[in-house]
Amino acid sequence: MCGIVGYVGESPISPILLDGLRRLEYRGYDSAGLAVLTDEGVAIRRAAGKLRTLEELVEREPIEGNVGIGHTRWATHGRPSEENAHPHVSGDVAVVHNGIIENHTELRREVRESGLELRSETDTELVAHLIALELAKGCDLREALLRTLGRLKGSYAIAAISPRVPGKIFVARANSPLVLGLGDGENYCASDVPALLPYTREMIFLEDGDLAVVEAERVSIFNLRGEEVERTLRRIDWSPSMAEKAGYKHFMLKEIFEQPRALEDTLRGRLNRAEGKIFGDEIGLSDETIRGINRVLFLACGTSLHASIAGRYWVEALAKIPAQAELASEFRGRDPIILPGDLVVVVSQSGETIDTLLAARLAKEKGATIVAIANVIDSAIPRLADAAFYTHAGPEIGVASTKCFTAQLANIFMLALHLGNVRGAISPERSAAFVEALAKLPQKMHETLLASRQLASSLAKRTRDAQDVLFLGRGLSFPIALEAALKLKEVSYIHAEGYAAGELKHGPMALLDELLPVFVILPRDEQRERTLSNLEEVKARDARVVAVATRGDEETLEKVEDLLDIPEVEPELSPFLTILPLQLFAYYVADFKGTDVDQPRNLAKTVTVE
Ligand code: AGP
Repeated sequence: MCGIVGYVGESPISPILLDGLRRLEYRGYDSAGLAVLTDEGVAIRRAAGKLRTLEELVEREPIEGNVGIGHTRWATHGRPSEENAHPHVSGDVAVVHNGIIENHTELRREVRESGLELRSETDTELVAHLIALELAKGCDLREALLRTLGRLKGSYAIAAISPRVPGKIFVARANSPLVLGLGDGENYCASDVPALLPYTREMIFLEDGDLAVVEAERVSIFNLRGEEVERTLRRIDWSPSMAEKAGYKHFMLKEIFEQPRALEDTLRGRLNRAEGKIFGDEIGLSDETIRGINRVLFLACGTSLHASIAGRYWVEALAKIPAQAELASEFRGRDPIILPGDLVVVVSQSGETIDTLLAARLAKEKGATIVAIANVIDSAIPRLADAAFYTHAGPEIGVASTKCFTAQLANIFMLALHLGNVRGAISPERSAAFVEALAKLPQKMHETLLASRQLASSLAKRTRDAQDVLFLGRGLSFPIALEAALKLKEVSYIHAEGYAAGELKHGPMALLDELLPVFVILPRDEQRERTLSNLEEVKARDARVVAVATRGDEETLEKVEDLLDIPEVEPELSPFLTILPLQLFAYYVADFKGTDVDQPRNLAKTVTVE
């Protein structure tokens, strides 16, 4: 939520800051701004609306300097407007901030009583004022920031500059991501890796409670007690072109078509084809720990939760361990019970979703062993976990998650298979068959995408005026129904629901009429017969039915006007394929409607507020 970028060095500063913001626009896109240290003090440019408005402003009123910070905003406190756009200034200090300051009411009162004028509705402006008040007491900027941080409750990534300390950016984080990028005679900071990819791959991920001082020749990192600390330097292997559209109209479409490659990268080096198993080292669990697991509990939000629901089926089927998948936000809302032998698997593309992070922290405090499945290395959730089992999907820029969903499915499936193998819950022959089938999946995904592209697009054209759409599935197709509905809602703004097909008669059937498009997902598996009966029930109520089924399923084909087909695949692996035409469908509906596909209204890629 919201993006921060900062630069210290000799290169022209505005293009670097604006380019960084463009690469972060997916994190927030209702207003944007820059602050640059110039000979006259701090120069500010801010504009409501998309980044383009700020770019035009900077073209009309250029700024130059060697130290600057930028911000793209996703409104939390205060509507999207120029006054509420960051940076916020108090005295000669300019501040940008991601996150939410929870004790803002108390701080606002204090700032008002001190006689300072509040010009915005934001919590960030309070941070700028608090720093200015500390500076007025005579301390330096680093000390003023440290003292201010001690007053803040909530989450933040903050960057601050002031002409009183030229050549330096001060940054700090708590529950909101912040990364430093190291260059040659120039250094950077940003809230997310893609902003820095064109400039450097040498990065340091700050930890909660870190305060760093970024200068052209060095970076120094301190803890909240002001003591200098060491953080690991990482080399990121994502390339800048991975964060470009590469000729596609939208990132979402590019990322949908990237899935075979993302899956291949995610499986690489993990399939032990000689022994028909998974190389399980990265999962980080000893065989003894695995034998002692009594329950697997998945925690996640949104798309990652849908991948986790598929995981529940796989862990039960392949490892014979009871499994649950829980909404991270709800897990935290009670006093959940963690027992000895609980393995908690925390799934998050960004590794920074605050609800998931706090749920993982709670599970850890209660004594659970935590395995993180994340796409962004060294992000907060894998850092907190006992082991990090990364997906290798590359940067995902579209707000609607697509390639990371199927990459998460891959890691979760491999985890379930590994648990099954270590516990002897699966026969060596069946395990080997799954390993071979996984190796063939990228090619099958490729075929599915090519084969369904046209029909998904023509269905989208016919469905773009629908008010509601229903997706039905049983077993492993249930999380796919949920995910298909979420994709459609997110990007097309059409109301959609994913339902377990067996639940239809318990209420949603009342919705059926000739105007309601219903997608029934019924690949060839042991649920197919029952789902086919549900399909008949839907047809009998005159609803418009589209099936997602296995190629050659004549029986289903006879019953529907349109069938999106997938190649023959092991029933357990069908989710990797059934989701593909439905992602394409959601994309094309949105594109026909002309919505902002990559940056849907009101959403942000990484949700770092509760
Ligand atoms: C997916 O399309 C959504 N944008 C959203 O539901 C997302 O999956 C959710 O916010 C969780 O994000 P995470 O995987 O980064 O934790």
